[in-house]
Amino acid sequence: SLSSIEQTSNSSFIKKLKSTGRSLVVFYGSQTGTAEEFAGRIAKEGARYKMKGMVADPEECDMADLVEMKEIQKSMAIFCVATYGEGDPTDNAMDFYEWLQNGDADLEGLNYAVFGLGNKTYEHYNEIAIYIDQRLEELGATRVHEIGLGDDDANIEDDFVSWKEKLWESVCSHYGIEETGEESNIRQYKLVDCSEILPERIFSGEISRLKSYENQRFPFDVKNPYLSKIAVNRELHKSGDRSCMHIEFDIDGSKMRYDTGDHVAVYPKNSSELVEKIGELLNADLDTVFSLLNTDEESSKKHPFPCPCTYRTALTYYLDITSNPRTHIMKELIEYASDPKDQEKLKLMASSTPEGKKEFHDWILRDNRNIVHILEDLPSVKPDLDHLCELLPRLQCRYYSISSSPKVYPKSIHITAVLVNYTTPTNRVNKGVATNLLAQLKPTNDELPQPTIPIYIRRSQFRLPPKSQTPIIMIGPGTGLAPFRGFIQERDYARKEGREIGEMVLYFGCRKKDEDFIYENELQEYVANGTLTKLHLAFSRDQPEKIYVTHLLEQNADELWNIIGEKNGHLYVCGDARSMAKDVHNIIVKVVMEKGQMTNSQALNYVKKMEQQKRYSADVWS
Ligand code: FAD
Ligand code: 2AM
Repeated sequence: SLSSIEQTSNSSFIKKLKSTGRSLVVFYGSQTGTAEEFAGRIAKEGARYKMKGMVADPEECDMADLVEMKEIQKSMAIFCVATYGEGDPTDNAMDFYEWLQNGDADLEGLNYAVFGLGNKTYEHYNEIAIYIDQRLEELGATRVHEIGLGDDDANIEDDFVSWKEKLWESVCSHYGIEETGEESNIRQYKLVDCSEILPERIFSGEISRLKSYENQRFPFDVKNPYLSKIAVNRELHKSGDRSCMHIEFDIDGSKMRYDTGDHVAVYPKNSSELVEKIGELLNADLDTVFSLLNTDEESSKKHPFPCPCTYRTALTYYLDITSNPRTHIMKELIEYASDPKDQEKLKLMASSTPEGKKEFHDWILRDNRNIVHILEDLPSVKPDLDHLCELLPRLQCRYYSISSSPKVYPKSIHITAVLVNYTTPTNRVNKGVATNLLAQLKPTNDELPQPTIPIYIRRSQFRLPPKSQTPIIMIGPGTGLAPFRGFIQERDYARKEGREIGEMVLYFGCRKKDEDFIYENELQEYVANGTLTKLHLAFSRDQPEKIYVTHLLEQNADELWNIIGEKNGHLYVCGDARSMAKDVHNIIVKVVMEKGQMTNSQALNYVKKMEQQKRYSADVWS
């Protein structure tokens, strides 16, 4: 087939480097596109140093060819790799990671550098990048520049830009070269006129296959989401001005199956208000059909998103218009500013001087400006809309921990989602893209067409113990309760079928009992019927001092040790509370030390082993 021909021609990145006169290859391990974007920026900057670069997806390459890099003069491989979840590589870097672990290739003569993308709120901070950096050296490769670690919890753009500056200094001294000063403001994609295109060839929001929403075909996955109806959408908060939604997606007839603990991914769309605003600010006709075509004909990525489509479709379904843009966007906007003041401001924010970084931090990050706010506040900046579409990152799907069990609800997927709405320092109201869309999707009475939303199921590692008798402890404040609702349903079902079930201890926390104690009645019923052995509740704002689930854990060291130490039980942590998972980890180590009579390092080992045995699992997001 055509695709297998493409695959083979793509797989040898060495051949491609040679045939196109390039000496720099930048690999990315990317899940959400940030590492890929960083890789692209490095590859582009190579031109400044007479190192023509290209980006490459390790999944599409035969990485064993790295041994041949030495055949190319003054060549270099750079790796921009993200670490996910419990210290996992991204899907597209999985094979490469395993190849490094299991293989013993001789990489002498390979010059390399690594930049990692991670998040300090997670325990396994940047582990994959650190491993790759060390392993390449062990295999004989030459590290041209020290590893850079990006922290997405702070300012990853800043980490990246600072690292990149120093990287080029190292490259220059390593290869004895100098900056040519040639700025490469060449675009990666060119605009293709599509005025003649037939309407049935135009994408209207599909993720991959044209008209896939009009004629749905299994199997459903990330490239081919299922258009789900909303069976239920109700408020869980009892009072207060925040909102938490209980939503049930109707998957009857979809043949989709899920397991307790899986995630469901939702493809959102941007609000029409913001999309129309961009059209207005740029005096653009959003109904224009266009296509962006890669100027690098060798690239396996022909278009940045499904093309052709209208600008309205691109801005609504394919592009992220609500995140804080990165500095390279500031840089590309400079040429479009007609007012020198606006131009100076953009130049400053794009520069990597301390003043520039501060300005970017204050004006973009602290004041929380997105592209719409920037165009509003720098009114002379009028980029070509097709160029802006090339620059903006892809709109990402949002994940939700499934809060139901397929044993009880085989035909629906439940989620528990907090509505995101907040006011920025410039007094604008920012509305969370996915949650505000979900909030509008209410089931209608039968005659009207039901609202739908594209979803798919993402398998997770967050699983109940194989045996229903194994005791478990669940720690899930706020929406962290979501997967545990599924866990409890599953075991309640087993118990009602006459099976023996182990102890289930739940730690739940929220602000106020009468406000955001979600699923209170359900939980009390599980306590009453014996499925839930113990329900520990921490209401953080019902009294002057804070009470958190972590405080309760500290008080219940005996119960904890009894379940995990004496009964070989499992422990689960879930939630979005900042640093909560880390606090829990520290408490568990302390309890293991005290109750298990171990030294600190023994206790750390014990907990590490629990993680390896899947007796300690976390499902956390920030
Ligand atoms: P977005 O448009 O993405 O906006 C959110 C962003 O706005 C935040 O990332 C933050 O940068 C910013 N922001 C938010 N509040 C403020 C503020 N007060 N001040 C300044 N900036 C702010 N969510 C759930 O509700 N329930 C779940 O069960 C759940 N499970 C998840 C499981 C996983 C594996 C992951 C990765 C995430 C999970 N999430 C869950 C989070 C969810 O995916 C979305 O991130 C969340 O719903 C917000 O999406 P949104 O599109 O509405 O907001
Ligand atoms: P707070 O908002 O009053 O600080 C769900 O979000 C609950 O988790 C809230 O009651 C919140 O309290 C609490 N919470 C915040 N940070 C936490 C942490 N580090 N550990 C445990 N709970 C936390």
